[in-house]
Amino acid sequence: MTNPPEESSVDVHVLSGATVVLGVTGGIAAYKSVELLRRLMDLGAYVIPVMTENATRFIGATTLTALASEPARLSLFDDHDPILHTRLGRSADLIVVAPATARLIGEYACGIATDLLSTTLVATEAPVVICPAMHSEMWAHPAIRENVATLERRGVTVVAPETGRLAGGDIGAGRLADIDVIVDRCAGALAPRRDLSGCHVVVSAGGTREAIDPVRFLSNRSSGKQGYAIAEAARSRGARVTLVTTTDRVAPAGVEVISVESAEELYGAVTGLAESAHVVIMAAAVADFRPVRVAEHKLKKSDGIPEISFVPTPDTLAELGRRHRPGQVIVGFAAETDDIIVHAKQKLREKGVDLLVVNDVTVEGTGFNADTNAVTILSREGKRTDVALAPKSTIAHAVLDAVVARIGVR
Ligand code: PMT
Repeated sequence: MTNPPEESSVDVHVLSGATVVLGVTGGIAAYKSVELLRRLMDLGAYVIPVMTENATRFIGATTLTALASEPARLSLFDDHDPILHTRLGRSADLIVVAPATARLIGEYACGIATDLLSTTLVATEAPVVICPAMHSEMWAHPAIRENVATLERRGVTVVAPETGRLAGGDIGAGRLADIDVIVDRCAGALAPRRDLSGCHVVVSAGGTREAIDPVRFLSNRSSGKQGYAIAEAARSRGARVTLVTTTDRVAPAGVEVISVESAEELYGAVTGLAESAHVVIMAAAVADFRPVRVAEHKLKKSDGIPEISFVPTPDTLAELGRRHRPGQVIVGFAAETDDIIVHAKQKLREKGVDLLVVNDVTVEGTGFNADTNAVTILSREGKRTDVALAPKSTIAHAVLDAVVARIGVR
């Protein structure tokens, strides 16, 4: 399956006149760098290709040289310029590496400079866009996940690979992202997206706690990481963000925080904010039931095993769906363990939301407490977008892309 190209939310013409170092590493997707080079040139960028030695096993330097603004550079040492890496690093307005292999990502994350490309990457202050392409097993490997997360934490834009046909006929996550998406993200890295300017976005995060007695509660495994990543991404895109959270994680800069504990408190906070918010994203894992009665004193072991009866909690998301205002965008999440799309479609209908983001929480590296996630975004009109395993910040931007695409639709 191929992910449809995301709708462009930045003006790609910011690339006009920009000096772009195009890094190409040794993977089968290297042939696609030719198309990327052409697109960047067509947009008026000044493009300098830098190839690793292994990249030349897949495509010829002559091909890139013929299309680029300057000849393709291959080595730290074979150039008339004795400090080529600092010239490239300083003159670049942007460096994009497409495709980026596991080796390049690992070296860059560790600050190891072994060749012209990795040396240029650690010698630049320009924005960097990394476009990984590799086999699914490699993309899912914990070492790669950590390296990618490290780069993202440092502000590097990582364009997650697509799910599709890979070398050797396999199908899975790891195929180089669509060239349109890469160009869009390059433009975004040059001119950060402000496509949520003027919007008030409310995000819920974490697992609710339903008290049993003064010291015990029922909860779930949610860490709040996904909700916080969405709050941070929305803030970076210009939104005013209110985070309704059950956790005491440090909130992203510039985000207003409202702390809640129970499903009831969350309901009160979120429905109140939703009266005027443009977007509400419910990433919190909210308890469906709570004990009928909270014991006034700590339950004692000596009193025997307690019998606890439950009552349903208010369903915040369903209420948001009922109170939906024209132009408002309501996003639910669904944590599923089986028949995930069937159950998610049912939730989408029953809760009356615009978008439902479903994660299969049985898969390693996804859902509760992981640093990564893999989701399918379903829209009320039946559109489906699969986002392959990627850091939660990447998932956050994919969810916001879907939000931006429909602001004002309904
Ligand atoms: O927090 P992390 O560790 O990063 O993990 C992320 C996550 C797995 C919690 C997140 O990606 C996720 O899936 N959140 C929703 C979890 C959930 O409660 O799913 P659900 O299928 O039970 O609920 C569906 C939707 O209804 C959710 O948007 C939920 O917030 C909402 N809901 C549920 C019950 C209720 N009483 N009120 C609600 O609003």
